[in-house]
Amino acid sequence: MKNADILTGITTTGTPHLGNYVGAIRPAIESSKEENKTSYYFLADYHAIIKCQEPERIQKSALEVAATWIAMGLDTNKSIFYRQTDIPEIPELTWILTCVTAKGLMNRAHAYKAAVADNEANIKIHADKDYLNFDKERNDLDRDITMGLFCYPILMAADILMFNARKVPVGKDQIQHIEMTRDIAGRFNKLYGEHFVLPEAVVDETSAVLSGLDGRKMSKSYNNTIPLFESDKALRKLIMKITTNSLAPEEPKDPKTCTLFAIYKAFATQDEVKAMEKRYMEGIAWGTMKQELFEYLNEILREPRETYNRLIKAPGDLNTILRQGASKAREYSVPFIEKIRKAVGIKSIG
Ligand code: TRP
Repeated sequence: MKNADILTGITTTGTPHLGNYVGAIRPAIESSKEENKTSYYFLADYHAIIKCQEPERIQKSALEVAATWIAMGLDTNKSIFYRQTDIPEIPELTWILTCVTAKGLMNRAHAYKAAVADNEANIKIHADKDYLNFDKERNDLDRDITMGLFCYPILMAADILMFNARKVPVGKDQIQHIEMTRDIAGRFNKLYGEHFVLPEAVVDETSAVLSGLDGRKMSKSYNNTIPLFESDKALRKLIMKITTNSLAPEEPKDPKTCTLFAIYKAFATQDEVKAMEKRYMEGIAWGTMKQELFEYLNEILREPRETYNRLIKAPGDLNTILRQGASKAREYSVPFIEKIRKAVGIKSIG
């Protein structure tokens, strides 16, 4: 088995939306089509349980994410598509890497630091208001922070190093984790020999970042998303909700600052975009634009939506696809973990 040329994971805590598709899913599906490239895509369900302690949500999301990738055209013969939890070598590698990772490195991880900063802010608020009851527990900067959150970059390093991935497409917020992966791999290589390839983060600056219903970045945490596979009625309703300014029909409008236009642009051809720009100058009414955007998206999503609904109803098919992916991935991970075990001195004593 070849090393991974491209590898990325999707945390299974939410329902895929237009922003996920344009920013991550579509570029990944495109790059999986390149000839002679081995791409690994996986459902990061061990990552999901760090942030989300609702079992139904995790399970539903795994199903929705898997169905979305297939419905949107991922060719699972060309790429390796699997569930992280189907690869037992990943948690094993996580532990081995944990034993060479400096705690100080983890102290600097953004996710952990943000959680500490939140606690600090809360302590300040309570210290002002409530100093008589100021107790030790409340004073703890690590309050409610799990070891899962703290060690999360090591799990991510294991995901990547397990398949010696060279390129890792990620959002900007994840760049630090790739740097930490390089650090951890370098430390291991220095101690035990050159076993791991040092990965590189690939941040796609060309793909659009979509705004959501309220004009802020489309994100589950803002609750402003447009899920990819709503029914046509629900899709129309959501598009009608998108915030616009109060310019009247016939007043010229600026496409550059318009959420509707940005969504249209993410799907339309260059000629269509030009034509729409012109109609903005001519003062297209918001109601008209919303209706047209709905019709345009609905047409594009019609077929994938049918596939998606069919897959959601027959999760057994998805399971088969994911299991096949896992067994392809394990052709790499099983012999490789054996090599890593030997490198650290864990081998048969007989
Ligand atoms: N942590 C990543 C995110 O939140 C998801 C992820 C998990 C990942 N493991 C990975 C991405 C390995 C790239 C490579 O977006």
